[in-house]
Amino acid sequence: MADLDHLHTDLIAQVHAADSLDALDAVRVAALGKQGAVTALLKTLGGMSPDERQQQGPRIQALREGVTAAIAAKKAALDRAELDAKLARETLDMTLPAEAAPVGSIHPVSQVMDELAEIFADLGFAVATGPEIETQWYNFTALNMPETHPARAMHDTFYLNARDGEEARVLRTHTSPVQIRAMQAAGGTKPIRIIAPGRTYRSDSDATHTPMFHQVEGLVIDKGITLGHLKWTLETFLKAFFERDDIVLRLRPSYFPFTEPSAEVDVGFSVVNGKRVIGGSDGWMEVLGSGMVHRSVIEAGGYDPNEWQGFAFGCGIDRLAMLKYGMDDLRAFFDGDARWLKHYGFSALDVPTLSGGVGA
Ligand code: DAH
Repeated sequence: MADLDHLHTDLIAQVHAADSLDALDAVRVAALGKQGAVTALLKTLGGMSPDERQQQGPRIQALREGVTAAIAAKKAALDRAELDAKLARETLDMTLPAEAAPVGSIHPVSQVMDELAEIFADLGFAVATGPEIETQWYNFTALNMPETHPARAMHDTFYLNARDGEEARVLRTHTSPVQIRAMQAAGGTKPIRIIAPGRTYRSDSDATHTPMFHQVEGLVIDKGITLGHLKWTLETFLKAFFERDDIVLRLRPSYFPFTEPSAEVDVGFSVVNGKRVIGGSDGWMEVLGSGMVHRSVIEAGGYDPNEWQGFAFGCGIDRLAMLKYGMDDLRAFFDGDARWLKHYGFSALDVPTLSGGVGA
């Protein structure tokens, strides 16, 4: 029986000596596992005489319990030590100065939006916004697109599930509904000059289309507004944006439900080293849609069309960024690839200003 005492002392010493959870588990397996020393002793009970078993049984059980308890206590101690070490290792010194090298950058779309706001602020335009989840009335009906209008089908609209008793809302397919909201906010009595940059959505995806994209809307409402004001404003904007004086515009008659007359605007480009560059007149490239605001739209905004006129335009911001900064795949804009952002992104200190050149 000295053997049992000896085994007990030996196993407890091994448990104490284990300096890692792995080492401790090896001791546990060697003692209590299927082939373990204590398990082997327990197995001998079956071959003993009843007297012997009565005497040895409790001793062997006591050995098993003693070793089990010692292992549990040691495991708790090792777990605690590991947690303490981890806490010490992962300490953050909140008093350290911030990282010296800036790691983030401004996305080209954000940069272009800032450039647009800067250019149009100089022309007296405020920035207006509207919701991205829009009612069909604002997105279509008020813009002279009644329910049966074919243009509704052309927009590849994302419809949301309708709430009880309400018409289904849509993800706005363009920034034009902000025209109506801006007119309503001005109450039908004041002139308006706004741009509305923001996200828009259509169910479409290829190298030049993404389901989410960006547009900027422009709206001027006043008395005595003509197509001449529209053309001058767009020309001034595009010259400032592309930072070139040789920008030539061509207004091509077109159709939009919310403008009458409507015009698509092309700018002249030249070919430099096989690439198209804005400016010059080697060819024409369509950049935006525009026109004189339709009477019905002025009315839907709460203005009297016999007194007030206006012009509007809408333009894809992502495309403007691609043309100005030379990217050729729109999808990369929204991949969030850090290498792309590092290459095409802007420093937070490159705030566009007209005096510094908006491209900063
Ligand atoms: N909303 C049009 C679109 O998404 C763009 C547009 C065209 C806006 C003409 C206008 C406009 O304000 O006058 O295709």
